[in-house]
Amino acid sequence: MSGEALAAPALSDGDFGALSASFEALDRAALIAHIEALARTDAVIARCLDASRTGVFKHPDGRTDALLDVRMSPAQLGLLSLLAAQCPRPASVEFGFGMGSSTTTILATRRRAREPFKHIVFDATGLAGRGEVVQSFLIDEFGPAFERRYLRSEIGGPALVSEAGAGSCGLVFLDGCHRFENVMADFVAADLLCCLGGFVVLDDVLAPAVECAVNYIARNRPDYALFNFEAESLVVLQKISPDEREWSDFRPFEAPARSNWELKTPSLVRA
Ligand SMILES: C[S@@+](CC[C@H](N)C(=O)[O-])C[C@H]1O[C@@H](n2cnc3c(N)ncnc32)[C@H](O)[C@@H]1O
Repeated sequence: MSGEALAAPALSDGDFGALSASFEALDRAALIAHIEALARTDAVIARCLDASRTGVFKHPDGRTDALLDVRMSPAQLGLLSLLAAQCPRPASVEFGFGMGSSTTTILATRRRAREPFKHIVFDATGLAGRGEVVQSFLIDEFGPAFERRYLRSEIGGPALVSEAGAGSCGLVFLDGCHRFENVMADFVAADLLCCLGGFVVLDDVLAPAVECAVNYIARNRPDYALFNFEAESLVVLQKISPDEREWSDFRPFEAPARSNWELKTPSLVRA
């Protein structure tokens, strides 16, 4: 890889701008090179990448926030940044603030397009005070383009559909509660929010409950193209057509015989 930031992946000639196959071919080295190149020209991305590498977010005023176990990798941030750069609507949404690394990356990338945008994050409790330094930085840096709503995603997500309308968002990142029924509830809301051509991204796809939801989607939702970044524990779904299933459609899918955090070994290692 050169050290240049990647251009947003080329869009095909499809009606809804389906991602090209070259997108899925992105490996870990390319994703890291992308975020590193952005960090050279964007101070917020640089701050976020430093936090990912050192485990500590450093506010310009000297305060710090330790990421501890809630730490997104540079490759994960690179992939989210590439998707945020292609977000086809002014609005994007996230379920689960955590330590705010994904939020920071999405906000900083979206700002680079110099178009009006809004990023809303649902998280009722956060991590018992952790993440507050990152959040105060984001409020100062991005003003009203960033909004944290203190609601569970299963409440706030559907409410946002009524408020903003179906298909109003271009990117929905799911990294909240990882119980199976919560992942499915989040997917239902994300599906309603996501526009044609937009993206739904799931984190922690090696965990059995999330893997189970992904297996359901892969078998039952032909209206989504699925890009597997298992090596980064992420799956990207792009909505490529309207949902034309019958109301009672159901295809069987595989439920992993593992519990809790018994992680799957990634089947597709990219780096
Ligand atoms: C793994 S962290 C998210 C990490 C984040 N992507 C980052 O970059 O730091 C998971 C977050 O989901 C939140 N969460 C848990 N259950 C939730 C729910 N039902 N709705 C919204 N957020 C939830 C937790 O409070 C926690 O902050």
